[in-house]
Amino acid sequence: MKLTEERRKALRITVDYTNMTDKYLGDKGISEKTLSANKKLAKSAHAYVNANRGKDELFMGWTELPYNQNEIVADILETAKLIRKKFDAFVVLGIGGSALGPSMAFTALCHLHYNDLPKSKRKGPKFYVEDNVDPVRMKELLDVIDVTKTCFNVISKSGATSETMAQYLIISDLLKKAGVNIRENVIFTTDAKRGNLVKISKELGGVKSYVLSDGVGGRFSELSPVGLLPAAVVGIDIKALLKGAAYMDKLCKSSDLAKNPALLSATLQYIAMEDGKNIGVLMPYSDNLRYVSDWYAQLWAESLGKNVTLDKKPCHVGQTPVKALGVTDQHSQVQLYTEGPYDKVVTFLSVGSYKEKTPIPHGCENIPDVAFLGGHTMEELIQAENKATAYALTKAGRLNYTINLPEVNEFTLGQLLFFFELQTAYAGAMYNIDTYNQPGVEAGKKATFALLGKPGYELQRNDLAKASPDPDYIV
Ligand code: PA5
Repeated sequence: MKLTEERRKALRITVDYTNMTDKYLGDKGISEKTLSANKKLAKSAHAYVNANRGKDELFMGWTELPYNQNEIVADILETAKLIRKKFDAFVVLGIGGSALGPSMAFTALCHLHYNDLPKSKRKGPKFYVEDNVDPVRMKELLDVIDVTKTCFNVISKSGATSETMAQYLIISDLLKKAGVNIRENVIFTTDAKRGNLVKISKELGGVKSYVLSDGVGGRFSELSPVGLLPAAVVGIDIKALLKGAAYMDKLCKSSDLAKNPALLSATLQYIAMEDGKNIGVLMPYSDNLRYVSDWYAQLWAESLGKNVTLDKKPCHVGQTPVKALGVTDQHSQVQLYTEGPYDKVVTFLSVGSYKEKTPIPHGCENIPDVAFLGGHTMEELIQAENKATAYALTKAGRLNYTINLPEVNEFTLGQLLFFFELQTAYAGAMYNIDTYNQPGVEAGKKATFALLGKPGYELQRNDLAKASPDPDYIV
């Protein structure tokens, strides 16, 4: 994607926070005074993030991903070409930060029925992201792929995640049984030196591997090989994705709220959270963007949901992300958003120009209630419904704001991802928490190890046996 400066400006994503202000929401809105009172905190959060950019020891390596991957990108593009030639299907085995990004980018930028298209109309092999260990799902995936003609990208930073490693064991066993050299059909994306995938690679005599560097945590890894290889395989322009991220980074240089959209968004969310808005709804008006909500939910929840500050003071912070889809969830959740408790901020993702307009033909001329739709397009309809929902929420005094994407493409998606990553980093700094750890996730992972008999977890296994189930509480 070649982009002139003019085109970049036209594709710039913007934040419209009109419906967060007291000017439009009355006493339910955020006043200029409140915003000003938080400017100092925003400035120091901005300074903290800036001062620690790229620091691996703080897990802030993600800030440099738009700039430091030229060689890796070249290698990924070559590998993707080979994969497209050789394989009928590409399967990501991973979970959490190792899967949500690949799913999101695929859905955002590929045909919504990509796997159903004939081969000649697809830019790559069929594509699957297996981010669960539901036994039915695994079995049924195997019903639709031929493992000998499938490339498996095993993505795990630790190489110790039970879900991913169980999937690997199943797949490697099948490949072996089919007489295929495992090395031919797997690619690892993992830590440079540590972890079980590194060991497995050595045992197999060297598996093609991409590195997820020390300073990049799972949920901040979409712009690393974790997301770039799967994206390149299905024909996504990964250079444009990275350019979009770099562009957003540039737009967020200032510590002035009026000039830094991610800092503004973080500050609005922070003010809302401090005022008891414990639920953050992300509602894209675009099926292509529907899994941005899943990706964002992990980023926001795992990063901000913490019980201790960096200076070891107890706290219980975070906001529960809720995934909604416009217009689908207008007919499901919007009733609650409009009339239920005042505990939410709704963030819309709106699209300026959809890649298809899809005209609605004239018809049913004798039924005015239907005929009025004729002559419009589905683009006009979805945009009108988006606007109408924002209006209804505002009339009901509900905090809502809109992130506008002029189009959905690699450049705007790259901007959006980096926007949310920066927003999360700023919000974490405002709360003075460790944005990048996830002790709550680790606890569950360890309990699973104990339950399934991993050596070293015997004590926890005994404790778990005592804990549940208690027959006194089973009805
Ligand atoms: O954001 C995170 O760090 C987690 O969600 C991890 O990505 C997830 O638990 C998978 O871990 P791993 O990549 O080590 O298999």
